[in-house]
Amino acid sequence: MAENPPRADERIAVAADHGGFALKEALAAELRDRGYAVVDLGTDSTASVDYPEFGDAIARAVVGRLAGRGILLCGTGIGASIAANRCRGIRAAVCHNAETARLARAHNDANVLVLGGRIVDRDTALACLDAFLHTPFEGGRHARRVAKLDESPAGNAGRAAP
Ligand code: RB5
Repeated sequence: MAENPPRADERIAVAADHGGFALKEALAAELRDRGYAVVDLGTDSTASVDYPEFGDAIARAVVGRLAGRGILLCGTGIGASIAANRCRGIRAAVCHNAETARLARAHNDANVLVLGGRIVDRDTALACLDAFLHTPFEGGRHARRVAKLDESPAGNAGRAAP
C-alpha cells in the first residue's frame, strides 16, 4: 500500500492457470498500484495450462520466502488450492467473499489466498484481497490448531519445504 511501503517479506507472488488468468492480471495491477512488489509466476495468457504447476509454483515461492504471501487462481480455486496445500507449510484458502478471506487469516493464518476466476467477480476478489492483506492472525487457540497442520502424520508424509 502506498501509505505502508512493502518490506522484503511483503512481496506478493501471484499465479493462475488460464481459468484465473484475467483476474490474476487485475489483482496484480491492483497490488502494484498499492506499492507491493509483485512476483508474477504466470500464466501469461488464456491458453490452456495445468493448474498443478501454478499451485506448486506459488507454494515454492512462499515456503522459500521469495514472497511473504501468495495469490493463486484457477477456474474454481479448488484444483490450485489442492496443489498448493500439498506443500508442507502452505495454508492455501479458497475464499468466496471478504468474510471467508478474513477468517482464513484470523483463524487459519492462511499464507495463500485462492480465488476462482470463474466464480468470483472483480469486486468480490478485491474485497477478498483487502481482507487477506489486512487481517492479522488471532493466534491463541488458533495457533495450536495451525501448528497441528504440520505435525500430523499425514502432513509429515507430504513434500518437505525446499
Ligand atoms: C480448467 O478448465 C479448470 O479445471 C481449472 O481452472 C480449475 O477450475 C480446476 O480446479
